[in-house]
Amino acid sequence: MCGIVGAVGLISPKEYVFKGLKMLDYRGYDSAGVAYFNSGIKIYKDVGSVEHLLTIVPEEIKTNIMIGHTRWATHGSPTKLNTHPHISFNQRICLVHNGVIENYVELKKFLLGKNYSFYGETDSEVVANLLEYYYLEYGDIIETIKKVMSEIKGSYAITFFTDDIKDTLYVLKNASPLVVGLGKGFNLVASDASPMIEYTNEFIELEDKEFGYITNDKVAIFNKAGKPIDKQAIHKDVELISHDLKGYPHYMLKEIEEIPQTVNRLINTYFQKGKYQFDKNLLKDLEESDHIIFIACGTSYHAGLVGGRYLEKYNKSTSRFIASEWAFHPTYPGAKPFIIMISQSGETADLIHCLKIVKEHNLKNLIITNTGGSTLDRNCMYSLLLHSGVEVSVASTKAYVAQVTLLAMLAGALGNDKQVVEDLRNCLDVVHGIQDHYKPLIMKVAEEIKDKKSVFFLGRSFDYFLSLEASLKLKEISYIHSEAIPGGELKHGPIALIEKGIPVIVFITDPDTASSMRGNIEEVKTRGAKVYTIATKSLYRSEDTMMVEDYAYYLSSVAIASIAFYLAYYVALAKGLNVDKPRNLAKSVTVE
Ligand code: M6R
Repeated sequence: MCGIVGAVGLISPKEYVFKGLKMLDYRGYDSAGVAYFNSGIKIYKDVGSVEHLLTIVPEEIKTNIMIGHTRWATHGSPTKLNTHPHISFNQRICLVHNGVIENYVELKKFLLGKNYSFYGETDSEVVANLLEYYYLEYGDIIETIKKVMSEIKGSYAITFFTDDIKDTLYVLKNASPLVVGLGKGFNLVASDASPMIEYTNEFIELEDKEFGYITNDKVAIFNKAGKPIDKQAIHKDVELISHDLKGYPHYMLKEIEEIPQTVNRLINTYFQKGKYQFDKNLLKDLEESDHIIFIACGTSYHAGLVGGRYLEKYNKSTSRFIASEWAFHPTYPGAKPFIIMISQSGETADLIHCLKIVKEHNLKNLIITNTGGSTLDRNCMYSLLLHSGVEVSVASTKAYVAQVTLLAMLAGALGNDKQVVEDLRNCLDVVHGIQDHYKPLIMKVAEEIKDKKSVFFLGRSFDYFLSLEASLKLKEISYIHSEAIPGGELKHGPIALIEKGIPVIVFITDPDTASSMRGNIEEVKTRGAKVYTIATKSLYRSEDTMMVEDYAYYLSSVAIASIAFYLAYYVALAKGLNVDKPRNLAKSVTVE
């Protein structure tokens, strides 16, 4: 789950590499490092942020080749020695790696037997040494890469340079993304396109088991047999992958505030001239399927819970699974199951594992993702893009709302129900109302709960699904323990945890369950809880905390999710925490 950047031939590779590392530190931020060539291989690396790294590298760096890495530790603790770039025993190969080499222990044993020694604990250092070992034996770098790729098992995106070919970066890839950016007089590489957009919008995405090299004026890519292949460059939309904070203090706040434009863009993309705009074959396959299985992780799983309910409204039978659960015990009932996967990043390892199983069983499948060109986008049978613009903050916000919006529209298309679009449009007023009027109130609530040990969210049906997301968001960035409980389950156990002063946040937006929710409020109040109620206008009571305009209640995750997101944001802010980069997490979970 690390970030990789590399440049050859730029006037200032340092500028590109550092800007790129800052953009990519959403992929991991335990430690960071860079390496370049200037009368020998120079490496600067340390535990901590990219900003810290900048303070330890020389001001002026004269080089035409540089690689950089920002790390989320998997093998080996986040220490300086384990930080990338890694250099081989005889100082011949310098690399950065993203992924996990599954057989690194055996490879390390092999190298130890050849008198190699290691300074750190990482699988990546083993690959640097394996490259060197075969390079010294073969004297040919392409043969070396082929040999190493035939020996290493697992996931990798690697870029490296040698001490003797000073104008070339080598790239190799399997099950971890790696993109080459094409420039004039320079070429770039990175784990995704975003760091490169300031320099180019022409990219080549490497497929699994492909490798190659880049110089300032040449890009050569080979298949696993070592045959050169002609890869088509793709053009990427600059605006949608821009990392500009646009004056906001944090990406999370910016991304919450982008929710209305995200919903609007989806409506305009998937509903035009009074008609839904979905691939007809996709709709046909969904119609003909007898069971639809949603698979996702984290926030995307929460969107899947909502989506499943939407399809059931139009008589589809559905089930929903967390990817890492389904991967090991896959079930697909019915004669014609259809798999819907949801992933903001399109790179989540647990889902990629599931896709392998889906393909082995020839199951029809769709990915809903925000990341065009990602592994899941490229490899699923159908793909629907969220068009939300890059989401940088680790805590997913606008992408969740986009996922639910798209699922509502897809269900609407299947049920031939255009009212969904109207209902979505009405949500926009509710979201604007929250943005314009409720932030000070949410900040006040945030101040009140910031020092609490535990927070509970209560809701039923769609409000319960939203509660799950609200709870995840709060714990992710404020480190407060929190739980979401369906109102009806309270008495079946969780009420034992309710004690004096504990905050309980209640969503009441569903007319059918509103009076039961009022009952739940009484139950927790009697036990001393401090209740904060968010209710829609027609269900509002004067003692409630917040009244939002009415909307079609099945769209809670579109209309009022921002309340939950602002709350998590302001609590983390009040606690002085790193909102966009919470501890232990990474934006893209590319290891299982
Ligand atoms: O990229 P994905 O949607 O597949 O990621 C799934 C989860 O890792 C992700 O939603 C995670 O839960 C977020 N940090 C939530 O804010």
